[in-house]
Amino acid sequence: MTGIITQGEKRLVLVSGRAHPQLAADVAQELDIELLPTTAYDFANGEIYVRFAESVRGTDAFVLQSHTSPINEWLMEQLLMVDALKRGSAKRITVVAPFFPYARQDKKHRGREPISARLVADLFRTAGADRLLSVDLHAAQTMGFFDGPVDHLWAMSILTDYVRTRVDLEAAAVVSPDAGRIRVAEQWAAKLGGVPLAFVHKTRDITRPNEAVANRVVGEVEGRTAILVDDLIDTGGTIAEAVKVVLEAGASDVIVAATHGVLSDPAARRLTESGAREVIVTDTLPISADKQFPQLTVLPIAPLLARAIREIFDDGSVTSLFDGVA
Ligand code: R5P
Repeated sequence: MTGIITQGEKRLVLVSGRAHPQLAADVAQELDIELLPTTAYDFANGEIYVRFAESVRGTDAFVLQSHTSPINEWLMEQLLMVDALKRGSAKRITVVAPFFPYARQDKKHRGREPISARLVADLFRTAGADRLLSVDLHAAQTMGFFDGPVDHLWAMSILTDYVRTRVDLEAAAVVSPDAGRIRVAEQWAAKLGGVPLAFVHKTRDITRPNEAVANRVVGEVEGRTAILVDDLIDTGGTIAEAVKVVLEAGASDVIVAATHGVLSDPAARRLTESGAREVIVTDTLPISADKQFPQLTVLPIAPLLARAIREIFDDGSVTSLFDGVA
């Protein structure tokens, strides 16, 4: 055989932006590795500098960033890290974005709007990303915006395993806070063993972001614990309104489960006062002290991310992590 043959050992490296150091540490611990030592800081004018302290040549590099506020800075930092890996001759670069930034703007509602989720996917690709890894995209078809493999993880099992311990499923109903997420709620209902399904019929004024007007519950919730499920809670308006409507419809109790706790102000206050017994999210995003409230439970996402990273590195199967879910 012509050429030079090497042993071809692969090297996985995990690098992280500055947005959510605890999540990065947790993922590294799950993988039983150290984070790649990295320097990152801001210049006086707000520009960002990054540099890896070790060679990344030939590595299978995973670039973790949590897109919390200030989201544009953390997105830019991650793009710079991808660029630095590309120019440092990493062999393969996977963007790990547990909460995909700008995912909610995935279509034009009206003329002259951007499709921001597509732009972000293009930015990752242009910077040099070969693959994407994310959790509970706002719309699964956003995978198609990235021209390369996308591993789309589901946090549903993490949330349902916990919910089982908190609710009598014989007297529960899974409720979608809007008609658009009924498919996900259906999957929840099936996963919880055929729990009845309902949804809140909601109208939204597209000229007023973060403001929803909930109307009425379609489906049976009377005398049941309503399990309200959503992909994300931002200002808490959608969920607080949905809690109110299901309680008015006769639900005996409400718990809320969402993958991403964005929890922008005034979410903590709204959710505290909403009447929900418990609000469960994962830590795809950091939850600072001012975002916390007594009913909040935060479940770790690091084990799922680490298992997926390991499968990707080993050329194993990410789908196998979810066998029996869909
Ligand atoms: C809507 O389509 C999403 O799934 C969430 O329900 C919404 O973005 C949450 O936003 P907020 O908490 O500000 O109502």
